[in-house]
Amino acid sequence: MARLDGYETPTPHGSQISQTLQDIAAEIFRQDDWGQPAQYIPELASVDPKQFAISVCLNDGKVLSAGAADKPFSIQSVSKVFTLVAALGRVGDQLWSRVGREPSGATFDSVVLLEREQGQPRNPFINAGAIVTTDSLLCKREPRTALAEVLELAREMAGSDDIFINKKVARSETETGSRNVALAHYLKSHGNLLNSPERTLGVYFHQCAIEMTTEQLAKAGRILAGLSGAPRVISRHHARRVNALMMTCGHYDGSGDFAYRVGLPGKSGVGGGLLIIAPRVASIAVWSPGLNGYGNSHAGTRAAAMLSKATNWSVF
Ligand code: DON
Repeated sequence: MARLDGYETPTPHGSQISQTLQDIAAEIFRQDDWGQPAQYIPELASVDPKQFAISVCLNDGKVLSAGAADKPFSIQSVSKVFTLVAALGRVGDQLWSRVGREPSGATFDSVVLLEREQGQPRNPFINAGAIVTTDSLLCKREPRTALAEVLELAREMAGSDDIFINKKVARSETETGSRNVALAHYLKSHGNLLNSPERTLGVYFHQCAIEMTTEQLAKAGRILAGLSGAPRVISRHHARRVNALMMTCGHYDGSGDFAYRVGLPGKSGVGGGLLIIAPRVASIAVWSPGLNGYGNSHAGTRAAAMLSKATNWSVF
């Protein structure tokens, strides 16, 4: 079995990790290029990009942080991890008759592969695949019931009731999310949407507008990392598969670059959040709202690369 620690370097202790996080935050604040916040969601476009937080939850349940780790941010596509966990629990492997498990090599909101592949999205993390996943979770229920299930799951995984949906962000995307509307209609035309585009997107836009802190998000990843004390909301079997998808598809067309630089499964969001899993060792959350060319956090990705290098945490 692969060992997570380096060939000679043991996994660092809590105090060493704390120091590493402080060093990473200091290094991040020394940089000039923070990237630009998501421009296509008006409510996110004006967020100050010069913000940073990082939290690490260890196997003993301790959470170590640096930066603004108690500041809630818009988790956006990181929410796709919660809907996937919920959908695997509710519909199980039937999901894979509607969504693939391959990297797309295309942008998160791309429509081109959908046309080529008869309305079957490549994976559950690109927008088209996440819309289908949300649709499978919604099934024939009321949108508010499905949304409450996702929100409750996020709260349970994080061990915190203090997690809410930012309605302004949801409204902002509802008013401007024409690409997602196009994707949903395209899926519907291929019979790969059970509900109306409006119903499914209503849940999807609201799940994306969930706000969490890096402390909460790091704790929410415990079950995926297989850490002790994590709430058993998903089987080990499914958790492994979610991690595999995070590794191969979690950063869209930037997934290869993230795997190369960080070496751990991760899921990004255009709010600048990252959830990263070091199996059996730690669950990590990073936030910085400025994005790189792939729509993933610019400083967050740099910080994740620094952390994996300093700790030797890698699945390779
Ligand atoms: O659907 C959208 O476009 C956004 N609500 C989420 C996209 C996203 O977070 C992509 N991630 N980097």
